[in-house]
Amino acid sequence: MEKHYAVIGDPIAHSLSPEMHNAGYKALGIDAEYQRFHVVPSNLAETVEGLCALGFSGWNVTLPYKEKIISLLDNLTPEARRAGAVNTVKIHDGQRIGHNTDGAGFIRSVEGELNGFKGKKAVLLGAGGASKGIALALTEQGMIVHILNRSPEKAQALVQVIRAEGGTATSGDFAQGDWLEQVDLLVQTTSVGLLGEPFPFSLQGISEQALVVDIIFNPSQTAFLQDAKKQGCRTLNGLGMLLYQGVLAWEFWLGGQAPVEAMQLALKDQLLRRMFYKG
Ligand SMILES: NC(=O)c1ccc[n+]([C@@H]2O[C@H](COP(=O)([O-])OP(=O)(O)OC[C@H]3O[C@@H](n4cnc5c(N)ncnc54)[C@H](OP(=O)(O)O)[C@@H]3O)[C@@H](O)[C@H]2O)c1
Repeated sequence: MEKHYAVIGDPIAHSLSPEMHNAGYKALGIDAEYQRFHVVPSNLAETVEGLCALGFSGWNVTLPYKEKIISLLDNLTPEARRAGAVNTVKIHDGQRIGHNTDGAGFIRSVEGELNGFKGKKAVLLGAGGASKGIALALTEQGMIVHILNRSPEKAQALVQVIRAEGGTATSGDFAQGDWLEQVDLLVQTTSVGLLGEPFPFSLQGISEQALVVDIIFNPSQTAFLQDAKKQGCRTLNGLGMLLYQGVLAWEFWLGGQAPVEAMQLALKDQLLRRMFYKG
């Protein structure tokens, strides 16, 4: 019997998840379809009821509903409870289970580039929803996390959440500083660069050993990543995080191993097509 999955959000046209998941079903010959649904805030509760009534097996949740959907679910996995946000819902024995694969997806995307996490220093730029999931996942792996945000009170609040979960974290000014010389992993999680704008400060003086990640994937090379390259650092954009949050959602829904290569190819193909049609 055909299984049905979806992604819900507002806006949603930019989401690459349908192409990524449908390519995966095709690669493994799985009888399933993944759709995207634009859901306005006043329709969120009815949408969840509708997806259940129509027999959907699960769905992804993107902005702005990752927190709002929680009150409409029956259970949360430990990952979703810790993050306080849900990006994946599974219907299991009629129960709506909320899960979060964003943090673990980030870990999967960088682990091949880092020689272990424990005791190493990560600096996170930004303290929004994405930063929270990544910071919790990194401290769970034993990293020491320093958070710099334009609004310092948000960075301080995130530090308190991490400490309450047993992690080690501090906060500081959203500016150049001594931290640049000691950082093992630098993660840019703000929305600066999405529209091609410059980053507010330079990375001059950064340790050449640092791995630098910008979780933005379109554009693929933000001014921030270009600066990191210029300083001699290894760099990654956010495509790996997007891929692996999808891979982990797939495995949560269907079990077994997701076809990572087919899903990655579909993502790259969609990005190229969208760039082509834009220009
Ligand atoms: N690769 C992936 O799979 C993936 C997944 C999720 C998100 N993302 C990307 O991550 C970015 C953030 O998403 P989010 O959900 O965390 O958003 P969010 O919750 O709205 O947080 C936005 C963050 O950006 C900061 N910021 C915004 N404009 C700024 C500016 N001009 N100067 C300095 N800081 C600024 C905010 O600082 P204040 O607190 O001071 O406002 C806040 O820390 C977006 O670009 C999104 O596309 C990628």
